[in-house]
Amino acid sequence: MDRVGKGVASGKIILMGEHAVVYGKPAIALPFTQASIETKVQKTNEKTLIECIYFSGPLEEAPVVISGIKNLINNTLNFLNEENFGLSISINSNLPAQRGLGSSAAVSVSIVRALFDVFNRDISDESLMELVGYAERIHHINPSGLDVNVIAAGQPVLFKRGTDPVPLKVAMDAVLVIADTGSMGQTREAVTNVSDLFQSNPDEIKSALEKLEELTLATLVHLENNDVENLGATMSMAQEILTKFKVSNEVLDLFIIESIKAGALGAKITGSGMGGCMIALCSDKQSADKVMSALDKAGAKAVWTLDMKDVTL
Ligand code: PMV
Repeated sequence: MDRVGKGVASGKIILMGEHAVVYGKPAIALPFTQASIETKVQKTNEKTLIECIYFSGPLEEAPVVISGIKNLINNTLNFLNEENFGLSISINSNLPAQRGLGSSAAVSVSIVRALFDVFNRDISDESLMELVGYAERIHHINPSGLDVNVIAAGQPVLFKRGTDPVPLKVAMDAVLVIADTGSMGQTREAVTNVSDLFQSNPDEIKSALEKLEELTLATLVHLENNDVENLGATMSMAQEILTKFKVSNEVLDLFIIESIKAGALGAKITGSGMGGCMIALCSDKQSADKVMSALDKAGAKAVWTLDMKDVTL
């Protein structure tokens, strides 16, 4: 029997530096291993078929909503010098889409990996970045590359636009709680909001971006020193700036307030904001349980935890 190509990718959480990363500032992101996307590709004798939550049928008839995926498949097959025929591609995900958890980059990474795998070809990091980076530029207006880099790396990274990601070791005595508001993050609008603010008030936004950079660099030190309290405080300081950027919203603000009331050491949005998810840092599992139930009560659609002691795939 022909081999089945498989490609898996997990999501991502931005711990610090979202939005500032678009302007060349550093950011820190972690793989979100609680949810992932798996693509399987089987060879057939029919035209290429695709099966995903948005559409099931011939790839050539795929609706606009998955045109990015269609392009990515075509580009990857071109890259591999393979024909777009005789493939059955199925995509399975438990990573909620458009919540700032990196689902668009994860779906792309899983597809490219699965296509390389079905043709028994090795993939270099460079080729993966090139193929997936192109797809991301279609989804977003001005992607920094952070999502793709952390998802492809599958480990915590310090990332600065235009440079290679620096792998980080995260081994902290803390638990991160992640809560989904259930509403879609608005990456385009949020990135545009910040850019409009930048145009209208460059000095103020420039200094806010510099402050975010300082907070990201402070986060590195706190991670290294296992300084959970100061990491929490740093997250809350970042949230104050992100609020001024108008990328938080009422529900995210409510979740942040409730998690702090329940004992979190700090909380902020993660990802573009204007919907999507927030994160709260807790000193241990007991504290995380309290924060989770407070977020549940506040109406979170889903709540996860990430043990910061062991953040690898
Ligand atoms: O699309 P999201 O929610 O994962 O946000 C990406 C992070 C931003 O910094 C807002 C944009 C970017 O390209 O880095």
